[in-house]
Amino acid sequence: MFNNQYVQSPFVQDSYRFTENLLSYINSGTDQVEPSLLENFNKILSDAYQNGMPEARKIIHNALFLIYQTHLSYPLSAAARRQHDEVLLIIKQRAERAWLSEEFRDVRFTDVEDLNVNFPNYLIGLWKGHRAARHDLFDFLERDATREQLFLFFKSDSALNLIFFDLVAYTLIGAEQETRGTVSENLWDEIGHGDNYFTHVNLYKNLLERQDISLPENHYIDLYGVDALAGHNAFMIGAVNRCHYYKLLGVMAMTEVLDPPQYTKLVNGCIRLGLIDKDVHYYNEHITIDIKHGDDWLYNVIDVIASKYPDSRQEFYLGCLLRLQTAERYYDNLLKEIKNI
Ligand SMILES: [Fe+2]
Ligand SMILES: [Fe+2]
Repeated sequence: MFNNQYVQSPFVQDSYRFTENLLSYINSGTDQVEPSLLENFNKILSDAYQNGMPEARKIIHNALFLIYQTHLSYPLSAAARRQHDEVLLIIKQRAERAWLSEEFRDVRFTDVEDLNVNFPNYLIGLWKGHRAARHDLFDFLERDATREQLFLFFKSDSALNLIFFDLVAYTLIGAEQETRGTVSENLWDEIGHGDNYFTHVNLYKNLLERQDISLPENHYIDLYGVDALAGHNAFMIGAVNRCHYYKLLGVMAMTEVLDPPQYTKLVNGCIRLGLIDKDVHYYNEHITIDIKHGDDWLYNVIDVIASKYPDSRQEFYLGCLLRLQTAERYYDNLLKEIKNI
């Protein structure tokens, strides 16, 4: 999907002409903007967040997804030249503002503002108390899923796993001096300590190959609904916007703490269905290594920054919430889809 010449969309077929126009604008080198592009966007945005239409939210998250892809596109493509395009920036900023204000509508900050609280422990409590941390999806995969259902999980997990190097790399840019060692160590783990075979992207590709699951160029984003797209966008919003950098660190911390217990269940399900250790190397690796990564983000990165800049706590808190909330909705939907086959 990334580093290719074209930015792709799972929703070109949608009735909203907007997506098609946006996509052709991104991939074309012309300066001509379809006159109705912004007008249609504004209408869809108000359908999405003022009128609460789920289909419109899908279009908005898809638009954000497409715009974020320009940041990782092939450098010589038309899409790469659109990276900071003024029309795309208008769409992106309006969409992000509407999404985040909806996402955090009910958030209260009283606890976070209390400086006496041990901040990493507070965030661990947030994770442990959240429904995303003990989601039925992983119990189902452990005990009941068929191979076909398990494979749908693998396909759906592809897009994010395959850009994780880039996402960790984004946390290095402008990192606080004291946190750089920890973040670099995480990135080094992500690339298998320099061994191409053990780099996580290849471990994941290997898992798919060993199950004869083909990997399409779009990394199965055509399977994505609004919640999967929002989960993906939750990383990229912090990656490409400096003002959301602390949110990205919160998103990362929650990702690392969520994975080990849930991947343990997933691996049990894989073994039950006849997969062998070699098949699940990617997930086994994350069961062990992500325990360290979770502690690292919380204690050696977030806590260090939060102690220095107390105002950053709110942002870390929001980032953590963003990851937990989007993961919960994504898991809910994926479980429904998995049960449907
Ligand atoms: Fe990884
Ligand atoms: Fe990790």
